[in-house]
Amino acid sequence: MVLSRASSDTDVSVHSTFASRYVRSSLPSRYRMPENSIPKEAAYQIINDELMLDGNPRLNLASFVTTWMEPECDKLIMASINKNYVDMDEYPVTTDLQNRCVNMIAHLFHAPLGESETAVGVGTVGSSEAIMLAGLAFKRRWQNKRKAEGKPFDKPNIITGANVQVCWEKFARYFEVELKEVKLREGYYVMDPEQAVEMVDENTICVAAILGSTLNGEFEDVKRINDLLEEKNKQTGWETPIHVDAASGGFIAPFLYPELEWDFRLPWVKSINVSGHKYGLVYPGIGWCVWRTKEDLPDELIFHINYLGSDQPTFTLNFSKGSSQVIGQYYQLIRHGIEGYTNIMENCQENAMVVKEGLEKTGRFNIVSKDEGVPLVAFSLKDHSRHDEFEISDMLRRFGWIVPAYTMPADAQHVTVLRVVIREEFSRTLAERLVLDIDTVMAQLDALPSKLTPPALLPATLPKTVVVANGHVKKTELETQKSVTEAWKKFVLAKKTNGVC
Ligand SMILES: Cc1ncc(COP(=O)(O)O)c(C=O)c1O
Repeated sequence: MVLSRASSDTDVSVHSTFASRYVRSSLPSRYRMPENSIPKEAAYQIINDELMLDGNPRLNLASFVTTWMEPECDKLIMASINKNYVDMDEYPVTTDLQNRCVNMIAHLFHAPLGESETAVGVGTVGSSEAIMLAGLAFKRRWQNKRKAEGKPFDKPNIITGANVQVCWEKFARYFEVELKEVKLREGYYVMDPEQAVEMVDENTICVAAILGSTLNGEFEDVKRINDLLEEKNKQTGWETPIHVDAASGGFIAPFLYPELEWDFRLPWVKSINVSGHKYGLVYPGIGWCVWRTKEDLPDELIFHINYLGSDQPTFTLNFSKGSSQVIGQYYQLIRHGIEGYTNIMENCQENAMVVKEGLEKTGRFNIVSKDEGVPLVAFSLKDHSRHDEFEISDMLRRFGWIVPAYTMPADAQHVTVLRVVIREEFSRTLAERLVLDIDTVMAQLDALPSKLTPPALLPATLPKTVVVANGHVKKTELETQKSVTEAWKKFVLAKKTNGVC
């Protein structure tokens, strides 16, 4: 007689991964570290399987952030995944590559550098960190000037449009600077230069202009802001500077619109941030901040350490960070050059036009983005009487597409838009497919009862509430419709902030 043994008694190394006791039973707790170890294959499988339920990054059209790089660059990234960037003495080549990136980007943005002069800038985790550093430099410079003049320096403010990305609100709150926002209005979703400069006062540390609004990709008019500030600074004797948040546009404008003056060609632009991980074409985790000159970055913000080897200047919020993204950025800059970046951005722009024209052909949407700007298409429904943008976003998810719907900020919050961001890896085939799928979703929605039918549109002859046997109230059709609409509105409102980065 052959006695079978319990699977747990046998050698685990011969078990099928899925049938091993580690994978076939649940983890002891999701929120506490387990007492015992498990084999590496089991740990891998458990995590891999749960991650399969995440969305597909390449179909995530909500994000500006890179989801694909060439295999050669993937290899370089994996080879440097164990290098801490801050160990500059140990990894001098990596440090040198970062400095080369800073210089290449500063030249791209027309920093006024002499032949042998090096640029002033730093690699960061993303544009948010870059903006915190730029904001701190402005605050410190303004405070130093006010102190020297014997004036109060406790109420700094910054002027932005209400369309700024949340990182500016973070900067304002974390570093105690008042954020004075220029409101938007229907049909105009960027900062109005006239209103912005009007709001500038003696406590303004800078005006922040966005090259590529997160909401609709539109470039703010930095040249106009510069010219208005020039006049105001002359009249008042103030020296209010400009920071350009070129998180997305910094790697688009130099290639698609080289004549557009938005950067250090304008004298009041003192610092610029750009996300390497957006149109800089690198995976998440890299941003850049560059200053016009050394004088624009107060020396007291730079820390000097020597315990990792020689003297090292650092100006970052975090100490340790990976080196891979810096190496990835250097790869993209030398691999593509001006020619390659121009080619890629032109292709993105053409694909954005394919999506835009496809949507226009349906006759159902207003296009809220501009042809000049970040390659994206922001659009809203012309007719909201039966369905809204949140339903379209939900239904597209069934096809695998992640397309966010969101409301505009003050004073245009009654406008809801859908936004499709076109990145390098979004091919023409996918652009055409997306348009077809949106068309299908619209047809499906037309066949569904409206979730938004206002009571006024319902027939007036609906029966009244009746009380049926054992005291239960049977709702009229109108009451049922109202409660469905209420429930739906709550659901929609709860989701308003989805996925805008
Ligand atoms: C205009 C703008 N500024 C700043 C940010 C923040 O960038 P990051 O995600 O690189 O921190 C974003 C992100 O989308 C943005 O669109």
